Amino acid sequence: MRKKIVAGNWKMNKTLQEGIELAKEVNAKVKALNAQNVQVIVGTPFIHLAEVAKVVDPVIAVSAQNCATEVSGAFTGEVSAAMVASTGSRYVILGHSERRSYYGETDAILVKKVARALENKLDVIFCVGEVLEERETEKHFEVVKSQLVNGIFNLSNEEFAHVIIAYEPVWAIGTGKTATSAQAQEMHAFIRKTVAEKYGKETAENTSILYGGSCNAKNADELFTNPDVDGGLIGGASLKAEDFSLIVAARSKH
Ligand code: PGA
Repeated sequence: MRKKIVAGNWKMNKTLQEGIELAKEVNAKVKALNAQNVQVIVGTPFIHLAEVAKVVDPVIAVSAQNCATEVSGAFTGEVSAAMVASTGSRYVILGHSERRSYYGETDAILVKKVARALENKLDVIFCVGEVLEERETEKHFEVVKSQLVNGIFNLSNEEFAHVIIAYEPVWAIGTGKTATSAQAQEMHAFIRKTVAEKYGKETAENTSILYGGSCNAKNADELFTNPDVDGGLIGGASLKAEDFSLIVAARSKH
């Protein structure tokens, strides 16, 4: 059975000390919920990973937000998947729209990053999603399908079992404009169907598909009632322990 997941994406926020404080608060609140049916993940900047991994209980997993395309060597400023794994992190977010648009991450780059992550036993939270113009011109299904096909459909069935998909419509990220519950369900069902066509129904049924884009303590409940919305990738609201734990509670309830 697929996992219910609530993952925070802190993006480029919090100093190390602030991050440790936030992780401790999140840990206390999530532990108090005793939401055993939800995998809770916090996606922190690289420098926080090792310290955050030390202060959270095993109920919370730690995730990086990126990793290098290369294994090791003369790549100044890069952080390898092996380094991420050595901090105790179990996940890495790849293909986030901010990385695709601001840092020029193409499908070809993402194929390499996904490979490095899986070689190092990191599970991948792979982000897909259309920009506003693509939705308005009804190209959203085509765009998302192409991101899946070109980014992760080269994987074997066994490898694909270590992938979580996050549907994040770009027009909803950080804008306060959430996809409607129906729009989210429609796209999630499409993603599951697309995965089934490639990997079979069983794999598709076991793949967790998260919604991201202005998901918050108020709208999480409705989004999570959808049968194909398995959880959320949470940006802004993951920076407040109270809000984040309310989203975990909403996920746990359904
Ligand atoms: P948001 O970000 O919740 O702040 O919209 C989501 C994300 O980018 O992962």
